[in-house]
Amino acid sequence: MNATIIDGKRLAADTRARIARGVAALKEEKGTTPGLAVVLVGDNPASISYVTAKEKACAEAGIHSREIRMGADASEAEVVKTVLQLNSDPAIHGILVQLPLPKGISEKKVIDAIAPEKDVDGFTPVNVGRMLIGEDCFLPCTPHGIVKLIEVTGMDISGKHAVVIGRSNIVGKPVAALLARKGPHANATVTLCHTGTPDVAAYTRTADIVVVAAGRPGTLTGDMLKPGAVVIDVGVNRIPDASRPKGFRLVGDADFESCAAVASAITPVPGGVGPMTITMLLWNTLLAAGGKIGA
Ligand code: GUN
Repeated sequence: MNATIIDGKRLAADTRARIARGVAALKEEKGTTPGLAVVLVGDNPASISYVTAKEKACAEAGIHSREIRMGADASEAEVVKTVLQLNSDPAIHGILVQLPLPKGISEKKVIDAIAPEKDVDGFTPVNVGRMLIGEDCFLPCTPHGIVKLIEVTGMDISGKHAVVIGRSNIVGKPVAALLARKGPHANATVTLCHTGTPDVAAYTRTADIVVVAAGRPGTLTGDMLKPGAVVIDVGVNRIPDASRPKGFRLVGDADFESCAAVASAITPVPGGVGPMTITMLLWNTLLAAGGKIGA
């Protein structure tokens, strides 16, 4: 293996310590405790484990969190009503509705109901639009975490060729937009590959940075990489594995062994992007409450 492992857990711990200092300063100076509401509809096991991890991280940073669990049979109107109540709740500075929502509930209608100033996921059209035109906004958590992970490798992103595989609204499209923005820690030449791209390898072989967010194990293999590339693996796929206590193991979208032999740096799964996504959620919640990130 040639690649350095990009330690997302460590970067997350360092960043969370800065956030905790910012939370403490906000409490001290203004008497405000940042509050995050997490709305979970239904009983998707992956969503339950994400939500549990978010609550634990909030508690460790000194952020107040409120979980609102709704049954899988909740109606769209009930979910929207819950969001509207949180919009006007002064103890809540950030609102997160865990996706995916059960079938029959429009994610668009629910997200559109979130007040942009409490949209700590950065998912509302107002925040997405502000990000695209380079205005101050809540940056979406996974893409923002990805930029931080590339930064710790020491690579200067400016002028590099970044290939993003996957065009989801949560990761692919926003990370492509963030990397292409004019300014520090950005300014890359970006190619966005997706299921309509006939030969993804033709692009990744010229890439200095590859962000793979396709939701499919084995999407990226070592033979598709230019030597020295930085690989950010956003995939979280459960593979049945009877030898594990939970009956499954997690793998990313990149074939780790072959990619690590060619790349200069790569994120592991788990322990790469995941911890940073939650960290950037805490970051946004502190900002939403009027705080500043500590040094
Ligand atoms: N589901 C998977 N990732 C996310 C995320 O970052 N935010 C929300 N709200 N739901 C998700």
